Amino acid sequence: MEGVFAWWSALALGLFPIVVWLLWWWNEIWFLAPVKASLNGSKIPPGHMGLPFIGEMLNFLWYFKIVKRPDDFIKSRRQRYGEGVGMYRSHLFGSPSIIACSPAINKFILQSSDLFTIKWPSTEIIGANSVVSVNGESHTSLVSPLPYVLGPKRAQSWQTMKPRRGVVKGVRAQPFNFPGTAYHHALRCRRKLGAVFRAELEKRKQGGDSASVERNDLMDGLMQIKDEEGNQLGDEEVVDNITSLIIAGYESTGMATMWSLYYLSKSPDVLRRLREEHMEISIQKKGAFITMEDIKKMKYTPKVVEETVRMANIAPVIFRRVNKDVDYRGYRIPKDWKVAVWLRHLHTDPNNFEDPFTFNPDRWNEPAKPGTYQVFGGGPRICAGNMLVRIQLSIFLHHLTIGYRWELINPDAKIRYLPHPRPVDGAKMAFHAI
Ligand code: HEM
Repeated sequence: MEGVFAWWSALALGLFPIVVWLLWWWNEIWFLAPVKASLNGSKIPPGHMGLPFIGEMLNFLWYFKIVKRPDDFIKSRRQRYGEGVGMYRSHLFGSPSIIACSPAINKFILQSSDLFTIKWPSTEIIGANSVVSVNGESHTSLVSPLPYVLGPKRAQSWQTMKPRRGVVKGVRAQPFNFPGTAYHHALRCRRKLGAVFRAELEKRKQGGDSASVERNDLMDGLMQIKDEEGNQLGDEEVVDNITSLIIAGYESTGMATMWSLYYLSKSPDVLRRLREEHMEISIQKKGAFITMEDIKKMKYTPKVVEETVRMANIAPVIFRRVNKDVDYRGYRIPKDWKVAVWLRHLHTDPNNFEDPFTFNPDRWNEPAKPGTYQVFGGGPRICAGNMLVRIQLSIFLHHLTIGYRWELINPDAKIRYLPHPRPVDGAKMAFHAI
């Protein structure tokens, strides 16, 4: 009996290191072996692909969720593998991945939209015809008129459209479609929302009462888009694009607004200077609404806005799918892998922004070093709402600074970083009219 026990113990002890070794190297062997066969002198970016199935997700969650030091995720890679060309291999969100985190490589990826395309897991929610989902020529023809559709004239009307939180939440949910899941709920909300927009669109096309009104809103803008041959968008394209603009714009604007108040409440000198600028405008306007002309004349406000979106890092990482093997400065980015473009790292790297965690609008007295400021992405898919959000923030800060003072209820609340950075208490604030 004792002999059998000893035999099994020895086997278990002997197998243990082999199992650990296999777990540690499984992904490396499984994903790298086919790539290595066709390297032709290129190298695979340094890094480690983590454990089978989960890859490096535990490590990612450790930094983002447990210790709440998200920037150490990249820092630890830089310390281990060096800065190199700013690429590391990994396995994240269920896919072999290249992490890109230098100004040059990020720019290269974002500019090369033929090599790196976008693929959403949940096109059913976003809409297959929307600017956010389509690639290539369909994308170009949709994206070019967007600055006009989202222009200052429509900034007001777009804001009044009722957002649908259910839909917004579903975009990030795992696509499991059964009752009780966020995805299932989002699909139902999406159908209802689509029906509301379709009915309104039909009314306007039929030229009923409401069609005679010049609304100049988002739907009107999308209905007026024409391609080079004069073709207008189809109904589903209009509906899909309204939905996707709400998804892309609603939460991001809310977060930018929240962070502006958060940082200002912690930076009394900045707030004082901002208030001075807006009080002066308010006196000149004698209580009238501010216009684009007033916004263009603001000097300090644009710096506060830029610093807010830099610090807030609302879109910390964006993803692309690799269409074919790409070689970049001697390194291979393999076909069908994902690329995680780590925008956040650029904005928190002291090499790019001195004292990066200090809210300092004056740093915008000089433009950022080339390529280091990518809060709105870059290349053909640069955020279509980047000007709109800047205008919205300027208007919002105008009204807030001339009419109110505010303070955080829990100024020391911890920050949660997933899915987007925000204080754990939701940044509760007390407002007082002045
Ligand atoms: C501070 C607020 C915002 C931030 C930080 C932000 C950030 C971004 C980023 C990083 C991208 C690029 C995504 C990618 O390349 O994969 C993007 C795309 C996009 N954003 Fe924003 N965004 C903001 C506000 C808005 C607003 C207000 C709107 C519209 C109302 C909007 C509409 C879009 C659209 C339509 C795209 C997709 C463009 C395309 O694929 O061609 N965003 N945004």
